[in-house]
Amino acid sequence: MSHAHSGSTPSPFWSPGLEALHPYVPGEQPRTPPRAKLNTNENPYPPSPRAVAAMRAVLDQSQADALRLYPDPTSLALRSALAQESGLSADQVFVGNGSDEVLAFAFQGLFRHPGRPLAFPEVSYSFYPVYCGLYGIESMTLPMRAEGERGEALIFDLDGVPRHACGLIFPNPNAPTSIAKPRQEIERLLQARPELLVLVDEAYVDFGAQSCVPLIHDHPNLLVSQSFSKSRGLAGLRLGMAFGQAPLIEALVRVKDSVNSYPIDRLALAGGTAAVEDRAHFEQTRDAIVRDRGALRSGLLALDFAVAEPAGNFVFAKAPLGQDALGLAQALRTQGILVRHFNTPMLRDFLRITVGRAEENALLLEALRALLAAQPEVGRQGVGL
Ligand SMILES: Cc1ncc(COP(=O)(O)O)c(C=O)c1O
Repeated sequence: MSHAHSGSTPSPFWSPGLEALHPYVPGEQPRTPPRAKLNTNENPYPPSPRAVAAMRAVLDQSQADALRLYPDPTSLALRSALAQESGLSADQVFVGNGSDEVLAFAFQGLFRHPGRPLAFPEVSYSFYPVYCGLYGIESMTLPMRAEGERGEALIFDLDGVPRHACGLIFPNPNAPTSIAKPRQEIERLLQARPELLVLVDEAYVDFGAQSCVPLIHDHPNLLVSQSFSKSRGLAGLRLGMAFGQAPLIEALVRVKDSVNSYPIDRLALAGGTAAVEDRAHFEQTRDAIVRDRGALRSGLLALDFAVAEPAGNFVFAKAPLGQDALGLAQALRTQGILVRHFNTPMLRDFLRITVGRAEENALLLEALRALLAAQPEVGRQGVGL
């Protein structure tokens, strides 16, 4: 399923090291809508109508003239709305062009300490090693162990971070496992290791994990990133944020102002601010996703997938014994149903399936049921699809 980035043609004009980079490969974004798009953890529901109205208003005749002008370089309205929602002050909030950009700024501004590696789980967001490659950051991974009856729960421990590490980053809930760590466990680490900067990537936190944002007051070594792409249904707008004590936020601002002073345009500023203020829409759509996640997991369990308790807007499902997960993903794709498969030794037996609308989830389950029923022997013999 890989695409783009292949077949590179290096040029003598490239800066040294560019050829050796391994850029992130995003999930497929098809040009025509598939029957069920369950491959990139987007929200199946539209964003807040108030956010849409706020962006329309920017384009209204009377205001459109403002597009001549640069947006507020400090994005104060949006930061203030986020600060108010999270019980922080605006100088403890940073916003960027998607949390990917926020993370990039954090790697550049906070994790570049020669001789002191950055730690992250062996299985986590695959953008982390990419940033390390780009910024020349030494890294090390925390090993995973497989728990559960069929090894379906891939877990890592927070106490394995070596003394000389400068920082730790991990998604909570983790990706692509969808497994969350309790806040208490993270707080214990923050207390025990005050010299270690911990970045908790909370892209999926709203779907079932405890946020670490309330710990910020007491822990100068904590930075938390979040996203508008998942629980706010605004992946297309590109907005992400970080919360932390002011000196950490200042590091991100210094990097931002050395790269691009205006990463948040006028539309995103208006839409993002209105989205934060529309708590009711946020809760309603999130609750629907959490409810449908339960049904999706039950359906997969009934088909003999092994699925650890998920905390994100996606499930990580280990294929029934003897079945080939890649083959299943490919067969689904021919039916217009997209899910994500990672072809690494530890992950190749799993499918990562975004929780879609109830009817999309039902379509997926029905397609899987038919595939498994049609080829039980082939799969069991390990021949694959
Ligand atoms: C763990 C994790 N962090 C961060 C992101 C980036 O989100 P965005 O840049 O859309 O805010 C993603 C996107 O899938 C993710 O899975």
